[in-house]
Amino acid sequence: MSGATLDMARIRADFPILHQEVRGRPLVYLDSAATTQKPQAVIDALVRYYTHDNANVHRGVHALSERSTQAYEGARERVRRFINARETKEIIFVRGCTEAINLVAQTYGRTKVGPGDEVLITAMEHHSDIVPWQMLCQHVGATLKMVPVDENGELRLEQLDTLLTERTRLLAVTHVSNALGTVNPIKEITRRAHARGVPVLVDGAQAMQHFRVDVQDLDCDFYAFSGHKMFGPTGIGVLYGKAQVLESLPPWQGGGDMILTVTMEKTVYNRLPYRLEAGTPNISGAVGLAAALDYLDSVGREAIAAHDQELLEYGTQALETVPGLRLMGRARERSGVLSFLMEDVHAHDVGTILDREGVAIRAGHHCAQPLLACFGVAATVRASLALYNTREDIDALVRGLHKVREVFA
Ligand SMILES: Cc1ncc(COP(=O)(O)O)c(C=O)c1O
Repeated sequence: MSGATLDMARIRADFPILHQEVRGRPLVYLDSAATTQKPQAVIDALVRYYTHDNANVHRGVHALSERSTQAYEGARERVRRFINARETKEIIFVRGCTEAINLVAQTYGRTKVGPGDEVLITAMEHHSDIVPWQMLCQHVGATLKMVPVDENGELRLEQLDTLLTERTRLLAVTHVSNALGTVNPIKEITRRAHARGVPVLVDGAQAMQHFRVDVQDLDCDFYAFSGHKMFGPTGIGVLYGKAQVLESLPPWQGGGDMILTVTMEKTVYNRLPYRLEAGTPNISGAVGLAAALDYLDSVGREAIAAHDQELLEYGTQALETVPGLRLMGRARERSGVLSFLMEDVHAHDVGTILDREGVAIRAGHHCAQPLLACFGVAATVRASLALYNTREDIDALVRGLHKVREVFA
């Protein structure tokens, strides 16, 4: 087993779903960039919450509502600590990374971006960090610009200073590419954007499960991520925003909890973070996310990051032994993703044959069509890693790929 610093038998025992057969073979789960599996601690936290504490938050005068409110607000504080935000009001609970980005586009975007302005993104963004900006730019008459990528899958940052103009109102950039695994130098990018007075939104969907993220150190203005990609439940995510930036945003959705008073003439809005959280929130999701953060910290984020790097290195070398395989993305800093093509075999066929071997991977454009277009391909095979993966999982993938070659020989 891999993982010099992780007790892999113990970690794998924490994830009940991994211990099953799929199509008569032991499951090898290599699709964690799509969603991670959940440790027993997260499943237990959800069961505990619904068994003992379930009630609505913020409005009840009874004991259960108090407990539920404490659990929900406790989760907010847990997230604050996890990403080292200054204040809990900087943590807005949303459905996921996609909703977090749309929130910024619909509030910050609609008020701060006007006709003739520019929004800068990069060619390696997930569709969730492209489409909301396209929609915004079309709506307000602004222009969407892209930082290109090079053949290794790194951003061409030498062009950044020219692409940032006096009309740029926001730079949105992914921390880690979901299609290639490239890790972008966010601190440096933010420094350069801020030098031009441009705020920065970071899409952290693929970063959070792999390494420590410190929003104060990065100095970004917004950081968006999803619970389900870091061992938490689906339907919960976080938008972090610097307090002074969030304070300047208008409300987004109208409804309960985001108000102080309502008359037929006028509404007085609540303070942060409630102003941006209309309606009954995903309380159990927040509780489950807090349990996932506890789990990550109990394993140790530095040990997880080291395991990721070791497995990525092992996987890269192992895949290079497969004849006719072309690895995509050779960035100097990578995390969690092995993306590749098999000569003359469509990615979906590779995926189907691997599935028969019990190996779950993703095949397709990974919601990053502009990035794949830069490489002149429509689809790749993506094996993505999490802390529960081992060298044996990679070996099973490589064995499966040899089967693919036999079938298509
Ligand atoms: C880089 C990146 N950004 C955003 C998203 C969207 O996340 P969600 O679907 O959880 O909102 C994903 C999901 O694949 C992603 O990989």
